Formats: sequence, structure tokens, C-alpha cells
Amino acid sequence: MKGRRIDARVELEFLRATEAAAIVSGKLVGRGDKNAVDQAAVDAMRSVLGEVDIDGLVVIGEGEKDEAPMLYIGEHVGTGDGPAMDVAVDPIDGTTLASKGGHGAISVVAAAERGSLFHTHVAYMDKIIVGRACRGVISIEASVEDNVRAVAKAMGRPVTEITVALLERDRNNEKVDRLRQLGARVRLFGDGDVANGIIAALEERSRIDMLVGIGGATEGVITACAVKCLGGDMQGRLWLREGEDEVARAEGIDPDKVLTLDDLCKSDLAMLAATGVTDGEFLQGVSYVRGSAYTQSIIISSLTHTTRMVDGKHDLQAFLNHSPANGITSLLKEHANR
Ligand code: FBP
Repeated sequence: MKGRRIDARVELEFLRATEAAAIVSGKLVGRGDKNAVDQAAVDAMRSVLGEVDIDGLVVIGEGEKDEAPMLYIGEHVGTGDGPAMDVAVDPIDGTTLASKGGHGAISVVAAAERGSLFHTHVAYMDKIIVGRACRGVISIEASVEDNVRAVAKAMGRPVTEITVALLERDRNNEKVDRLRQLGARVRLFGDGDVANGIIAALEERSRIDMLVGIGGATEGVITACAVKCLGGDMQGRLWLREGEDEVARAEGIDPDKVLTLDDLCKSDLAMLAATGVTDGEFLQGVSYVRGSAYTQSIIISSLTHTTRMVDGKHDLQAFLNHSPANGITSLLKEHANR
């Protein structure tokens, strides 16, 4: 029934979608074909999302309809029989690293009430993400030094004990130098903005105190859903490449606007599910042992006010029987028969 309230079963259905994407794409890890990894994850995720009782609208997806036949922006997902929700998918965050067999690729879906997620075609966003203890003390307009000092004060620690994560890109080099001069600890990662942003917001993981720097804009919005549920804080501002000023304006977005957590995810009712594809600090990757796949996932939800780590053991034969042929690789079929 359209208009129905979002109920807690949806969280587990999203979890099934990221698990399926990880199980199917995990068999392609380390084989050097990033498109194949991504395609397998997209197919598997889409087929599970199709079964979820929501009236879902993909607002962050694989691209425009003409470039992405599945999970494209504007695609309706779900049975249509359920609450209206914005859905943001990243079937694999860290596609290249997964294809190289690197650490920290995840599959992720976030969702919130319809009309509540920020979306843009601008590619990059400057961001700051912190956990609950530092809510209200950060500002994307302040210098990186002032932000670290504010976080240090809120955490009751010297700046030398603050660890700041940044995506390792030339565009973030200046911030890295300034952070080191200040005496903060810098933690660079090659890919995987979402996982590192969530770690910064999770109080239970103390290895990253804040994430700063320029990364993907869509990854920023997906992360914002988790930050919202966790009671952390986040601010962003679009980082424009040549011509993107126009892109933002055409979308009705002031390109210089400070994007608060509420701008990125308006709704207080949000959720995120993620499953590890390759081993990482955030989640263990999928492994395959004698006809079963083992997964590790997280569900963060403001609907049930829970953060759950979920270890799954999946009988591959049953998984294959249930799943449509889409995205099922022969490698997975082979494994199911072991
Ligand atoms: P992919 O899954 O598309 O490879 O994205 C990985 C990622 O590292 C994101 O986590 C990050 O936000 C983005 O790439 C940064 O983009 P770029 O590699 O263009 O700097």
C-alpha cells in the first residue's frame, strides 16, 4: 500500500541487497576487470531491491538512464507497494580496488523518506565528518586547523592525538601538509570514502576522529545517511571542476552553499546497509568456503535506533536457486557445487 509508514523489515531487505551484491561480485575480486565487478554487483543488488516492499526512487545511482540500464537515477525500485523512499546505491564503493584485490571495497545502500536526499551531477564535494562527541563544533568554512582544534577540544585531547582521514588525491595535498604541520595524525586512504566517513562517525571505532577533504559528492550523501543515524555531524560544499558551476546552477543549487547534515539528508528517518566485498578496517570481505559464502555487514538505522553488525553464512546453492540468473557468474555456480 502506497503511503505506508516505513517499517523495520526494510532494513533487513536492504541488507539482503548489499549481501547479494557482495557475494556475486566477490568472486570477481582481483581479476582486473572493474566493469565486471561493478556489473555483477549492480545486477544482484537490483534484483533484490526489486522484491522490497517500498515505492523506491533511485536518486543516487549508476548514472543517467542512457548510460546505465540498471539502478539509474530516476529508476523506480521495489514492489511499489510500500512507503515512498529515496534510495541511494553504490553497489561497490571501491570498484577499482576490488578489481585489483585491494582492501576496503564495500557494497552499500542508503535510504530515507522520499524527497529528503540531496542530489547533484557535480562530481566532487569537500567534506568534514565527525562523531557524536563533536557535533556542532565543525565548520567547512573554517580552516582545517581550526576544525582539528575544535575536535580536539570536544574530545578532551591534544591535537597530536587527533587522527584525520583523507582520500589520497593531489587535490587534498595542501590539507595534508597543513594537518601535519599542526601535529595531527594523518591517515591517507586510496579509495573508499563511504567506509572511512562512517568510521569517523562511529564512536566505537576510535582509529579515525574525523574525515576531511574532497571526495565523491554522491558518496558524501550516502555517508550523510549513516552520520544522521549515528548522531554525528557533517558539512560539505561542492568542489567544482571547470563548467560545473553551470551544472549546479541548472539544478537549482547554489554552488557555494554550505551543505549541512540536514541539507544532505533532510529526513530524521534514514538507514544504511553495507557489506564488505574485500577485507577492510570497516568490514571483512566476503569469503567462500565449501559451498557457502560468509559475509560481514552493518545496518545503521534511525528507524530502530540501532547499529547492527551482521555476520552471514549463505548456502550458495539456495542463494542461486532464489536469485534470478542476472549477475550470477559461472565462478559462483562452480563454487556452489563444492
Ligand atoms: P569507485 O567505486 O567509483 O572506484 O569510487 C571509489 C572512490 O574512492 C570513492 O570512495 C571516492 O569518493 C571517489 O572514488 C573519489 O573519486 P576519484 O577517484 O575520482 O578521486
